[in-house]
Amino acid sequence: MIEFLLNNERVSLEECDTGISVQQYLRQQQQLTGTKEGCAAGDCGACTIVLGEIAADDASITYRSVNSCITLLANLHGKQVITIEHLAQGKVLHPVQQALVDHHGSQCGFCTPGVVMSMFSLYHTDIAPSREVVNKSLSGNLCRCTGYRPIIEATTEVCENRQPDQFTAMQQQTLDALKNIRAEHKDVFANNVHLPETREAMATLLAEYPDARLVGGSTDLALETTQQLKALPELISTQRMLDCRQIDVTEDTISIGAALPLSDIEAVLVAHFPALHELIERFASLPIRNQATLGGNVANASPIGDMPPVLLALNASIETDNGRQTRLLPASAFFTGYRQTQLAKGEWIKAIHFPRLGPDTQLRAYKVSKRHEDDISAVCAVFTVTTVNGVITAISSGFGGVAATPVSCDDLATQFTGLSWQDEQVRQRGKHILMSAFNPIDDVRASAAYRNQVLGNLWQRFWFETQTALLATTRVPHYA
Ligand SMILES: Cc1cc2nc3c(=O)[nH]c(=O)nc-3n(C[C@H](O)[C@H](O)[C@H](O)COP(=O)(O)OP(=O)(O)OC[C@H]3O[C@@H](n4cnc5c(N)ncnc54)[C@H](O)[C@@H]3O)c2cc1C
Ligand code: FES
Ligand code: FES
Repeated sequence: MIEFLLNNERVSLEECDTGISVQQYLRQQQQLTGTKEGCAAGDCGACTIVLGEIAADDASITYRSVNSCITLLANLHGKQVITIEHLAQGKVLHPVQQALVDHHGSQCGFCTPGVVMSMFSLYHTDIAPSREVVNKSLSGNLCRCTGYRPIIEATTEVCENRQPDQFTAMQQQTLDALKNIRAEHKDVFANNVHLPETREAMATLLAEYPDARLVGGSTDLALETTQQLKALPELISTQRMLDCRQIDVTEDTISIGAALPLSDIEAVLVAHFPALHELIERFASLPIRNQATLGGNVANASPIGDMPPVLLALNASIETDNGRQTRLLPASAFFTGYRQTQLAKGEWIKAIHFPRLGPDTQLRAYKVSKRHEDDISAVCAVFTVTTVNGVITAISSGFGGVAATPVSCDDLATQFTGLSWQDEQVRQRGKHILMSAFNPIDDVRASAAYRNQVLGNLWQRFWFETQTALLATTRVPHYA
């Protein structure tokens, strides 16, 4: 059985079909048809709902927007589901709805329920958000007729004048109800979906169902049903696995649990690697990042995934587990072929370990895509360079969109170690090395020639951007 709150009502589901999304469940089984379907692929935001979850402090609720069209029913376990129907009280609109009316933020109205739900999650997250934060919260909602200005203005104004609403008034009851669900369930499953909590339970399930698929946030996996119309097999979710949801920062390493969504790991990654800020903000949209896990992105091993190049350039290690033992695999050896990895049968990704960078190392991450928000990379390039007194001691790199797997270019380190980072030939030769290092494909996102050119250009950009940064850390030799 899985259990969740639909607004304030507890719902128990004995049966939980892997082929049905939350959006279909709401529309077809609950007749909550305010939640729309546009793309069924996580791209348009018409299906946005909000999930309330017990926060890390165990004393409050976090409200997050998600795309219900690619959310599996099982992932609702232990959460509160809020849809557009739950906002107004009788004939009185919720403040976010009223703000949209006041600012003329709706025309045909198809996108409006999704927009309102994104506004609602921000209303419960941030008082007086900056323009950047407002944009980020609406990054998953496409509107084809109103235009975004009135929607942005409505969002900004309503958050600035936030008043407690019925959800604030009910917070303690909701929290208690969610805690009850959490306390009452050890093993959670509903027909062919399992949500184990411990590594032992996970290992047992993987042995019992050798053909089962693992699932994290389902933002890749669900597309197999909604886009490719495939039936999904038995599913085992990592969502409740406590040891896959830890963040650990030591003197040398930042370790990130594989089952944490990107929204939960963004702060720690950006605090330690500020250069990743833009790449992470441009990873899909906020509702996708609220579900998509780092483990899912790495295990998916897509050649156009954004985090594998980061792992490669930062010399990260991937920790796998099979319930009996863990293995530590370097990212450089993890991706073995198109969407293939070293992950063995019965194993899952537990965590990713990133070595911390010293002051002599510069990191940059670049994403080139057709659209700024919510788009897949045509090329993703991540570089680091380490110098001592201006002399290169190490270069590492990771690229997406240029080969069948995420790749690095070892030639950069081989050719340039020992040279000055300021040496013009490093810029020029590096550009030529990268322009002929790979054999990218031509596809709808970009031609092979374009991808090669972009690679060379990004190397030059990296070189120019880091010249002064590395000069600033050049150590003055000490003569005794
Ligand atoms: C609209 C949209 C936009 C997107 N934009 C981007 C983007 O900009 N950049 C980008 O890189 N990706 C993007 N993606 C792809 C996707 O969001 C990411 O790959 C995401 O990180 C997948 O994580 P998940 O938890 O949702 O994985 P899931 O869909 O749950 O799983 C993906 C795969 O990983 C396996 N898996 C999951 N967790 C584990 C684990 N712990 N151990 C072993 N195997 C596991 C599953 O079996 C499955 O094969 C986008 C997707 C959508 C729908
Ligand atoms: S229907 Fe388009 S994102 Fe869900
Ligand atoms: S109001 Fe028509 S798509 Fe937004």
